[in-house]
Amino acid sequence: MKANMSKPVILTGLRANNDLHIGNYLGALLPLVDMAQAKAGEYQVNLFVPDLHSFTTEIDHSKLQEAIMQNLRVFVAAGLPLEHPGVHIYRQSYISAHSELTWILDCFTGFGEMRRMTQFKDKSGQLSEDRISVGLFNYPVLMAVDILLYGAEYVPVGDDQTQHLEFTRDIAERMNSRFGELFIVPKPVKGQHQFFGKEQGLRIRDLQNPVNKMSKSNESGKGVIFLTDTPDAARKKIMGAETDSMGKVDYDYELRPGISNLLDMLRLFGGEPREYIGQTQYGELKMAVADKVAGFLKDFQAKLAKVDDEAILKKLETDEAKMRKIADTQLRKVQQAVGLRG
Ligand code: TRP
Repeated sequence: MKANMSKPVILTGLRANNDLHIGNYLGALLPLVDMAQAKAGEYQVNLFVPDLHSFTTEIDHSKLQEAIMQNLRVFVAAGLPLEHPGVHIYRQSYISAHSELTWILDCFTGFGEMRRMTQFKDKSGQLSEDRISVGLFNYPVLMAVDILLYGAEYVPVGDDQTQHLEFTRDIAERMNSRFGELFIVPKPVKGQHQFFGKEQGLRIRDLQNPVNKMSKSNESGKGVIFLTDTPDAARKKIMGAETDSMGKVDYDYELRPGISNLLDMLRLFGGEPREYIGQTQYGELKMAVADKVAGFLKDFQAKLAKVDDEAILKKLETDEAKMRKIADTQLRKVQQAVGLRG
């Protein structure tokens, strides 16, 4: 039984993040935008802002509104097709069913089940007990609700989220076997990977330490190209990228991380890596990547400056009204099943 419209649903959270870099862009934003463009006809694509998730750890609350808007602007500048009727964007906190269903499912979730979550262990390990919020602890329940309220079958998940997806399937099956067919169960992780393909989750690496992935926390910032870097600064970082001394351009993701990273970047920015394979100098390849990256940044920054906030807000409001109906219908079904409604 479908919980909502007849098209299968693809859903994911657009995680807010300051200091976005081209690793985020190529590894997460672009695949998501490409996916939305490719699938939005045949599927219902739900891309939502998980704003209620944002205080599981401490944040600057006075900056949250701006961070949410900026995050959406970046997606729009990256090509998110706002005008496509198959693409829906909404803020989680604007649809109260998320909070309400979370409480209900909290009561069917085991303490041990949550305590075993790797991400919880990692994040809470750095905090003293009184600073670990209960929200951080039961956040996978809210995430499950995000998915189950809309009957989403396809959820692109990075490695850090696969356990949460498995939990979503577990809680959905548990409720279904106890109360009858309440929820559509999302596809297992393997099915997600097959559906979304290998580009999802691709890791761009740090230019200085290419064994590590590109990450905003890398000390000097020399190995990281931020979306706010000037094209010239980016060019310099590429030209100074660490490679190896094998003396011949070739792709080997594991054994030659630096060169392979440059080839990946070139390909993803629309260049032709094959033209450089076999060259005995790395300079031309670097130059080609530098040109592509500088060109991309110039273009992206111009698009970002032109994004229309009004259009985003209007789209949010329209989609939130639609999604509220779907979510409320699903919530009502659960409320009836558990005896809260007659
Ligand atoms: N937990 C996800 C992350 O950190 C974000 C998220 C929240 C999400 N709810 C979701 C992703 C539901 C997919 C589906 O990246």
